[in-house]
Amino acid sequence: MSKIYITRNIPDAGINKLKEKGYEVDINPDDKVLTKEELISALSAKPYDAVLCLLTDQIDKEVFEAAPQAKIFANYAVGYNNIDVDTAKEKGIMITNTPGVLTETVAEYAFALILAIAHRIAEADKFTREGKYKGWAPKLLLGSNISGKTLGIIGLGRIGSQVAHHAKNGFNMNVLYYDVKRNEDFEKEIGATYKENMEDVLKESDIVSLHVPLIDSTKHLMNADRLKMMKKSAYLVNTSRGPVVDEKFLVSALRDGVIKGAALDVFEEEPELAEGLVGLDNVILTPHIASATEETRSKMSEMTADNIIVALEGGTPPNLV
Ligand code: GLV
Ligand code: GLV
Repeated sequence: MSKIYITRNIPDAGINKLKEKGYEVDINPDDKVLTKEELISALSAKPYDAVLCLLTDQIDKEVFEAAPQAKIFANYAVGYNNIDVDTAKEKGIMITNTPGVLTETVAEYAFALILAIAHRIAEADKFTREGKYKGWAPKLLLGSNISGKTLGIIGLGRIGSQVAHHAKNGFNMNVLYYDVKRNEDFEKEIGATYKENMEDVLKESDIVSLHVPLIDSTKHLMNADRLKMMKKSAYLVNTSRGPVVDEKFLVSALRDGVIKGAALDVFEEEPELAEGLVGLDNVILTPHIASATEETRSKMSEMTADNIIVALEGGTPPNLV
C-alpha cells in the first residue's frame, strides 16, 4: 500500500481521493507549518511514496533525502519557488503544481485589490470603525477612478491575462504588458499593447499589477530604480511573490510619495512585514489569500491528489513542472 505524507491539513476533497485509492495517508496533526527539522523527522518516520507539500515548506536536498522512496512532491500551489526543482530532477523526483484552477480566483482577487486601493476601501473601513465618520463631506477620502486608466501587467501568464481581460472588458482600461514572451494573439483579443521594455510599462501605467513567478531574474524586479520610474499617482499591486518587490524600499517609496499606494497580498519575508509597512495608510495588506476561496482551495486539493495518483500508478502527472 502506497504511503502519502501531507505536510499540513488541506481541504478534504483531495485527501478523500487518496484514501479512496487505498493509500495510507498521514497528515501533520498540527495546523502549523513544520520546521525543517520537524518535516525531516516526519518524513523519516515511514518510507513515504509521495509527499503533498505547501508553499510554506522549503523543499531542498535534505528534505528529499529524508524521503528517499518518494517519487513525487506535489505542491499545493501554482508557484513552486519553495522547491529545489533542479535537485529533484537530478534525483528523478517528480514535482507538480496546481496551475489553471486558481487563475480566476487570483485574478478576481488582484482586481479586488486594484479597486480597493484606488477607492481607499480598507482605509475607509478603518476610518468608519474608529468612529471618525461624522457625516458626509465633499472631500472625504477621495480616491481615484480606474475606468479609462492604464493598467500595466508585468508577467502575462494565465493570471496576468485574466486580470487584463477584466480591466479591458469590465473597466475599459488601457492595458499595457511586459513579459519575456510577446503574445500577439492576446494583444488582438484583448486590445492590449506590448512593451518591449518593462520600464515603459512602469512609466506609463496608473496601476501596475505583478504576475511573474519568483525566479532568480524576478527577485527584486521592482527595485528602487524601477519603483521610482512609476508615476507619483500610481499604485502597485502584488499577488505574485513577496521577494519580487524590494519591500524595504517600497516602505520609503510609500512614505515619501514616490508612488501613491500599494496593495500587497505577499511579502518578502512573510509572515514578517517590513518595518514601517503597517503604519502606512496608503497600503493594503492581506495575508497571502489571493487563491483562498472554498471552491478553489478544494479544486487545488483534488488536483494535487490527482498528480500523486497518476505518479504512483506509473504515469506522468498532468501538472509536472
Ligand atoms: C499561491 O500563492 C500559489 O502559488 O498557489
Ligand atoms: C499562473 O497560473 C500564471 O500562469 O499566471
